Amino acid sequence: MSEKSENPARHAVSTAPAAEHALATAPAAEAAEPAVEAAAVPAPARARARREPMFPDGPAPDPAGSHHERRIRSFQPRRSRVTTGQGEALRRLWPVWGLDIDGLSRIDLGELFGDPKLPVVLEIGFGMGEATAAMAAADPGTGILACDVHTPGQGNLLALAERNGLENVRVANGDAIILLREMLAPDSLAGLRVYFPDPWPKKRHHKRRLIQPEFLALAATRLAPGALLHCATDWEPYAEQMLEVLTASPDFENTQADGGFAPRPDFRPLTRFEGQGLEKGHAVRDLLFRRRG
Ligand SMILES: C[S@@+](CC[C@H](N)C(=O)[O-])C[C@H]1O[C@@H](n2cnc3c(N)ncnc32)[C@H](O)[C@@H]1O
Repeated sequence: MSEKSENPARHAVSTAPAAEHALATAPAAEAAEPAVEAAAVPAPARARARREPMFPDGPAPDPAGSHHERRIRSFQPRRSRVTTGQGEALRRLWPVWGLDIDGLSRIDLGELFGDPKLPVVLEIGFGMGEATAAMAAADPGTGILACDVHTPGQGNLLALAERNGLENVRVANGDAIILLREMLAPDSLAGLRVYFPDPWPKKRHHKRRLIQPEFLALAATRLAPGALLHCATDWEPYAEQMLEVLTASPDFENTQADGGFAPRPDFRPLTRFEGQGLEKGHAVRDLLFRRRG
């Protein structure tokens, strides 16, 4: 990914409202990466005033604001720790390759990626983005719209994309539900990836899990017929829930003839959270479903 003077993300959005659905809202397990306090990021020329954003041209703290407030979120706001390199990438590359999910505009994916024919997949919850960057490098013919609320991860992915010359990654900041519901056109996605979503193990938190019937109904409208929905988790009860709700969904069909989990596909690299789960002895489950149509 190279730095350009114009931000395709700024031009790829129109003000046409796209609201069609309603859904509840995000935890983000802390990514274990060496980080320094935000204060270690090179200071701007003058000290920041109270409430002044750390990255004035970077990801907005709450892009959708109160006009799209959702009561139940699948992520939890975290105090962000940003390394020097991540901060530098955010300052320099966010205005070029970043996109705030404000829920106010519709995205033209062709314009966003500079190629109207490029198939685009949405990845929800890329964490630190290593797997995203690896998949983008392995498949330059597919655009990846990578969405998360985790500021250090956004900086990390931008830096990885630039370092590896990836032209096919865009980074979206905010709640994926609002992105799907308000900003993406029907049938516009060639695929959806949800790798190791927050498991929300406590019963009272299960309502925060992302993979639920309402989410699937919304996602199905944004996926093109035949598009692949790929989920993976190391949390067995969540894996069972995913299989149950996906199997029950009228919008998706299992790619596995036996109706069960899929073997891990070669194209999915090991993710950071997956590595942590494997170290704890967890079994990893992949689910590969296709949008009917
Ligand atoms: C457990 S982490 C997994 C990260 C990465 N996929 C991996 O396997 O290493 C889940 C990520 O999903 C993000 N997330 C959860 N709900 C989200 C939502 N509604 N919109 C955007 N990101 C979300 C969290 O911020 C967190 O970074």
